[in-house]
Amino acid sequence: MSVAKNDYKRITVKTLVDMKSRGEKISMLTAYDYTMAKIVDGAGVDVILVGDSASNVMAGHETTLPITLDQMIYHAAGVVRAINRSLVVVDLPFGSYQSDPKEALRSAIRIMKESGGHAVKLEGGKEVKESIKRILNAGIPVMGHLGLTPQSIYKFGTYTVRAKEEEEAEKLKEDAILLEKMGCFAIVLEKIPAKLAKEVAQSVSIPIIGIGAGNGVDGQVLVLHDMLGMTYEFQPRFLRRYMNLYEEMTTSIGQYVKDVKEVNFPSEEEQY
Ligand code: KIV
Repeated sequence: MSVAKNDYKRITVKTLVDMKSRGEKISMLTAYDYTMAKIVDGAGVDVILVGDSASNVMAGHETTLPITLDQMIYHAAGVVRAINRSLVVVDLPFGSYQSDPKEALRSAIRIMKESGGHAVKLEGGKEVKESIKRILNAGIPVMGHLGLTPQSIYKFGTYTVRAKEEEEAEKLKEDAILLEKMGCFAIVLEKIPAKLAKEVAQSVSIPIIGIGAGNGVDGQVLVLHDMLGMTYEFQPRFLRRYMNLYEEMTTSIGQYVKDVKEVNFPSEEEQY
């Protein structure tokens, strides 16, 4: 599906809540730059997440921890310039909201002012509740993120499925209800059992967007470069690759190299 330039209605946080109440699933993908965001928006994706996965995908870091607020703003501003319809949600990076609610608010305000994004996302439940409250009080929409929270990777030690044990599952359910009560407009649930994710989705009225959380939730999110098959080392069970862009790009670039070496490019028609 492709959306024509003038044939769109902007997605808002309210649109998403309405979509949940009428049972319409929400599509969400990451994007970190203008060109990709233009394609994602034009293809009809409801929510573009400027994820801190930019730290891995764009900058080549092993974790999401190193990316800075300035770098997130740079990525988000390019995305915002590209979009006509999608809601743009921007991740608050590690260290920009955990230490103090006032700092969290300052970080969120910088994202909204300097990138033009429409909402922020942050990881955690009860532990970051004061930060969430501050940001919401300033009129900035907040998306929560529970389950596998990659900013805490050094606490978890691995990227395996979270909340398999009763105690962690109970805490996750409580956190989801708390986030809804505080006024978050949606929650991402990452890498948790499908049964638990479905239960959470049924227990709150705000949309639950899953990644590795089964199909009983209100929408799905994937990292764009993974679903396009540009990355090949990362192969979790939940990832569906819609293309093998890594191979296609390698072949095309290899052909270009060959054409240049053999003086097959440019041709007569490709010169002045
Ligand atoms: O940063 C990111 O890409 C994310 C998604 C995996 C949900 O948070």
